[in-house]
Amino acid sequence: MAFVVDRLLPADLDAALALSTKAGWNQVAADWQRVLDLSPEGCLAGRQDGRVVATAGLVTVTPEIRWVCLVLVDEALRGRGYGAAMFVQVLERVRRSGTTAVGLDASDLGRPVYLKQGFVDVAPIDRWTGVLRPSAPPSNIGAFETRSAEIVAALDRDACGGDRGPLLRHLVAEPAVRTVVSPGLGYGLYRPGRLHGHIGPLIAANDTVAKLILDQIRHAAGERTVSIDAMRTAENAALLETAGLTVARRLTRMTLAPARPLLMGPRIRAAESFTWG
Ligand SMILES: CC(C)(COP(=O)(O)OP(=O)(O)OC[C@H]1O[C@@H](n2cnc3c(N)ncnc32)[C@H](O)[C@@H]1OP(=O)(O)O)[C@@H](O)C(=O)NCCC(=O)NCCS
Repeated sequence: MAFVVDRLLPADLDAALALSTKAGWNQVAADWQRVLDLSPEGCLAGRQDGRVVATAGLVTVTPEIRWVCLVLVDEALRGRGYGAAMFVQVLERVRRSGTTAVGLDASDLGRPVYLKQGFVDVAPIDRWTGVLRPSAPPSNIGAFETRSAEIVAALDRDACGGDRGPLLRHLVAEPAVRTVVSPGLGYGLYRPGRLHGHIGPLIAANDTVAKLILDQIRHAAGERTVSIDAMRTAENAALLETAGLTVARRLTRMTLAPARPLLMGPRIRAAESFTWG
C-alpha cells in the first residue's frame, strides 16, 4: 500500500513513542503529548498499511518562531523517500504559517535532508549526559523550586527576546516537571526521560547562577543520569564538564536560509530540548 502522510492524532501516541524508543531517543509519553497539546496541527504521521512508520512536527515556539522536530522514519523503511515526503509536508505548513523564522536541531542523519530543502547551518549544539556532581553553592544568592510559570516566562522573555509562555506554562504545570528559579537571575527545568532525566531550558544571568540552578536540579535528579542540550561554546563546555557531564551526541542548529541565531544568546545556557530549540 502507498505511503500516506496525514495528521498525527492522540490515538497514534503509543505508535509514535514506540518509534522514538526504537530509534534510541529519550522521549516519554509526556513529550509527545506536549507537542500534540501545543501544536496539534503541526504533528504529522506517515502511514504504511495504516501503521505509523514515520513522524514529523512543526511546533510554535514563540508567535514568531517555528521549530521542526521529531523527524523520524522506521529504520527498516529508510532510504525510500519517506523522510523527504514528511519534510515536504512540514515545509507546506511553514509556508501556511507565514513565518520565516524556522529552526531545527539536526542529527547527522537529518542534516542532508534539511540541506536539500533550504536549511543552512547556524552553529553546533551538543547533548551532554552524566550524573551531576555537587558544586559548592554560592552563599549570597539563592534558588528554590516554584510552580509559578509567570516568573519563569518573564525571565525567559528577557533572555530570548520572544514569548515562549504557552510552552513554559505547559511544562511548569506538568506534575513530573521540577522548576528551579533564582529570582531575577535565571531558571532551569528538569523532567524525567526514558533514558535520562532531561534539563532544559536553562537560563542564567552568569556562570554562578547556572551552577546554582544545576546544583538544585541535582537534588531532584539524585544519582540518575541527566541530559542537557547546549550550544557548543567554551563557557558551556566549562560549565558542563565541571558539573560532571560529557558530550554524548553532536548535532547542528540550522535555520531556513538565511542563517539566524534563533533561541541563542548569552543567557540561554541550554535548549528546552532538540524538539523545541
Ligand atoms: C533522517 C531520516 C528521517 C531520513 O529519512 P529517510 O526516509 O531515510 O530519507 P529519504 O529516503 O527521504 O531521503 C531524503 C534525501 O536525503 C538524502 N539522504 C538521506 N539520508 C542521507 C544520508 N545519511 N547522507 C546523505 N544523504 C542522505 C537522500 O538521498 C534523499 O535525497 P534525494 O531526495 O535527493 O534522493 C531517517 O534517516 C531517520 O529517521 N533517522 C533517525 C532519526 C533522525 O536522526 N532524525 C532526524 C532528526 S533531526
